[in-house]
Amino acid sequence: MKKGMTVEQILASYNDAAPLTEASTIPAPWYVDARIADLERQTVFSRTWQVMGRVDQVEKPGQFVTATVAGEPLVAVRGSDGMLRAFYNVCRHHAAAVVTEPCGQASILRCPYHGWNYGLDGTLKGMPEFDGVKNFERKDNGLVPVKVETWEQFVFVNLDADAAPLADYLGGLVRRVAPLGLTRLHYYASQTYNIYCNWKVFVDNYLDGGYHVPHLHKGLNSVLDYKQYTIEIEDRYCLQSSPMVTSDEHAATGATRKGDRAWYFWLHPNFMFNCYEGYLDTNLVIPVDVDHCRVIFDYYFSDVSEAGRAYNEQSVSVGNQVQDEDLGICEAVQRGLKSRAYGAGRLSVRREAGEHLFHRLLAADLRGGIGQPATACEGEI
Ligand code: FES
Ligand SMILES: [Fe+2]
Repeated sequence: MKKGMTVEQILASYNDAAPLTEASTIPAPWYVDARIADLERQTVFSRTWQVMGRVDQVEKPGQFVTATVAGEPLVAVRGSDGMLRAFYNVCRHHAAAVVTEPCGQASILRCPYHGWNYGLDGTLKGMPEFDGVKNFERKDNGLVPVKVETWEQFVFVNLDADAAPLADYLGGLVRRVAPLGLTRLHYYASQTYNIYCNWKVFVDNYLDGGYHVPHLHKGLNSVLDYKQYTIEIEDRYCLQSSPMVTSDEHAATGATRKGDRAWYFWLHPNFMFNCYEGYLDTNLVIPVDVDHCRVIFDYYFSDVSEAGRAYNEQSVSVGNQVQDEDLGICEAVQRGLKSRAYGAGRLSVRREAGEHLFHRLLAADLRGGIGQPATACEGEI
């Protein structure tokens, strides 16, 4: 990495106008410079629709789910009126987190610090020992709202109060995913991976169009017709898809990765979901700092009853095997990106159109947001 470059110079060192045949990856400093990570938090993660939970977590009145997006503590909660709302999970008194459980159900949101309590619609209901305080309006001190919408099984939030609706953001993805009938599948289990790599290294690895599959994932490769692998890019998503073949060699993979086709979807910037027959897993990639990310895998199956348990466990362990193979490579890439020997790399025209899309969208987000302060919907001073 060249020392002494400004953020503007680092951003300018990527040419997003180059066609795939001439394109390079985003340069190494984008993956290793903490100033880029800060700018991503203010732009990419503060302006895009971000998955913060599952619809099944907030089905009933009072059910809530919490998450952190762009460093902001958030809570989404289903109101008594059936409406889903989201808020900054920050008490208007002295800023403690009001909801402290990852998910659950409540009739009122009570801050654990001094007992201020809020309705499921975010309005401030009660403040113990607050008589005599002047110029204080309860109605102006509700939880600060955040945009929230759902699509398929997923709850999305957007910190940008001016963001276009989720359907606009998803674009053609809605039509592409609808025939797969994802809502017929049921959540089964989650698995979290803490990885020593920038979050974009993990996304790049996902978006290489199967390039690494024959080399790194022998089991997975045995059920994919690699030569027929297709890559579609549109709007803000990429679909990588492959016809399936049967495998005798890798029995566990063959038994749990079935159907006519494998469908691998990525939605800019950090959400992926993978479908086989009767199977869905989602991967949410969360930046921790410039060198670390956390990836949350949620597994869904058609039968989540006791009768399906052995099969589902086998399927999750096949998933774990693939992830373990990927993690070692991602960590090696992060070390390599810090080497003086590396600047940027070229892209395979046959395989790496997804990465090219990702890098161009990212460049647009970063350049479009530079110098613009982030604001909440209200609660600004
Ligand atoms: S910080 Fe929540 S009641 Fe004081
Ligand atoms: Fe992989």
